[in-house]
Parts: sequence; C-alpha cells; structure tokens
Amino acid sequence: MSQELWNEVDRYICDRLLGEDPALEAALAASDAAGLPPIAVTANQGKLMQMLARLRGAGRILEIGTLGGYSTIWLARGLEPGGRLVTLEVNPRFAAVAAENIDRAGLGDVVEMRVGPALETLPALVDEGAVFDLIFIDADKANYPGYFEHSLELSRPGTVIIADNVVRDGAILQSGGGNGPDAENIRGVQRLYELLAAEPRVSTEVTAIQTVGSKGHDGFAVALVT
Ligand code: SAH
Ligand code: DHB
Ligand code: MG
Repeated sequence: MSQELWNEVDRYICDRLLGEDPALEAALAASDAAGLPPIAVTANQGKLMQMLARLRGAGRILEIGTLGGYSTIWLARGLEPGGRLVTLEVNPRFAAVAAENIDRAGLGDVVEMRVGPALETLPALVDEGAVFDLIFIDADKANYPGYFEHSLELSRPGTVIIADNVVRDGAILQSGGGNGPDAENIRGVQRLYELLAAEPRVSTEVTAIQTVGSKGHDGFAVALVT
C-alpha cells in the first residue's frame, strides 16, 4: 500500500547519508545477475549494523546466512583493525557468489565462509571455543531458536545478538504461525521471542524494532548478552 513511499524515503535517506559505494553496488549487481533472491538487508540497515559493530568495538563477528555477502561486507567493515568475521551459508552456489563479492570488496582475508547447514557448522564453532562480539542471525527463520541457543554458547558478556525479519508484515501476530506456507518460519520467529524473554542472560537487555522501507514492513531484534 505505502510501499512506493517507503522506497522513496529509503532512497532519500541513502542518497543523503550513505553515498556511492562501488563494492557494495557490485555485490548487489552480481548477486542479481546470478539469480540470488533480492533479500539482502537494505543499505541503511547495513550501515546501522556496521555502526553497531563499531559501537561494540567488535573484533569477532559471526553471521548466520550469507546469501551474496552484502550484509557480510557491511559488517566486516565495522570490525576493529585486525578483526575477523565468520559467515555461514548452506547454499554452495550462493557462497561462491558471496566469495567473489567479498574478495572484490577487499575483505577476502578478513572473512571466513563456512558452507553447510548452520545447525552443523555452529556446533563446530562451539567445539573450537570460538567467541564473538556481535552475531547476526539471518538464515532460515524456522531454525532461529536453534541459532539463538548456539549464539549464546558463542557469546560472552557484552556480545550483541541481532536477528533480522522478526516482524514479517505482522505475520508474527498469527497464532501458532498460522496455516500458510510460511508457518514454520513464523513459528521459529515466535519461539525466538519466547527464548529472548526467558533467557536470563538477555531478558533485561533486549528489544525489537519494526521497520518499513524498501524491504516492506519487517523488523529486527537486538539483544545484549549480560
Ligand atoms: N544476510 C544476507 C541475507 C541472508 S538471506 C544479507 O542481508 O545480505 C538468508 C540466507 O540464509 C540465504 O542465503 C540462505 O541460503 C541461507 N540459509 C538458509 N538456510 C540455511 C541453513 N540451514 N544454514 C545456513 N544458511 C542457510
Ligand atoms: C527472506 C529472508 C530474509 O533474510 C529477508 O531479510 C527477507 C526475506 C526470505 O527468505 O524470504
Ligand atoms: Mg533477512
């Protein structure tokens, strides 16, 4: 209904505050040309996450759901000097596109991609004793509860956990996720809210914000691990 207006306002914001960025624009163009779905974060969302990384002083970032590496590039640019980002992607074709995009952005040595189902690659990170300062959850929504539980194991006090797509056009209001094709995903997000509210390490330091913009009506949750 207001989508055209939201698009124009996002354009207004980005034109004034973000400026040209050849590497990010090339990442989107290459993702599009390779047929990846156009579901990356928007530029102004990416910038916000980069700023959250800077505010946190993040030296280690974990991303769950790489797609073409667009949000990866934003986040990796927010790392402290010498920092590292690990990103998890199940689709080898997407991962190959992302690797090229990340290399083109000059971040090939900073970003490590692990290809496989995140519910398999996350326990490996836990076994390695990995700890992250910022974790961005953005893969399949049905598995958000599992991603959050693993993220807690990969956190320390002060870790910021961000989850994308926690509003989905208001679909979260549908009891039990509704009966539509997206029900499993909606239930995953609803369960994430329950876990965020119940987990003593985040329950006092968590919120979610609904957003409108060129990606429609959606939102993100932000939690600080205490
Ligand atoms: N963060 C990206 C968008 C991610 S879209 C950006 O904003 O630029 C969600 C991604 O999660 C897709 O690439 C999809 O292939 C991936 N994904 C889906 N299920 C997954 C799983 N089980 N493990 C890891 N990645 C998964
Ligand atoms: C979808 C996934 C996302 O991470 C997103 O931001 C938007 C849409 C999807 O799977 O449809
Ligand atoms: Mg998303």
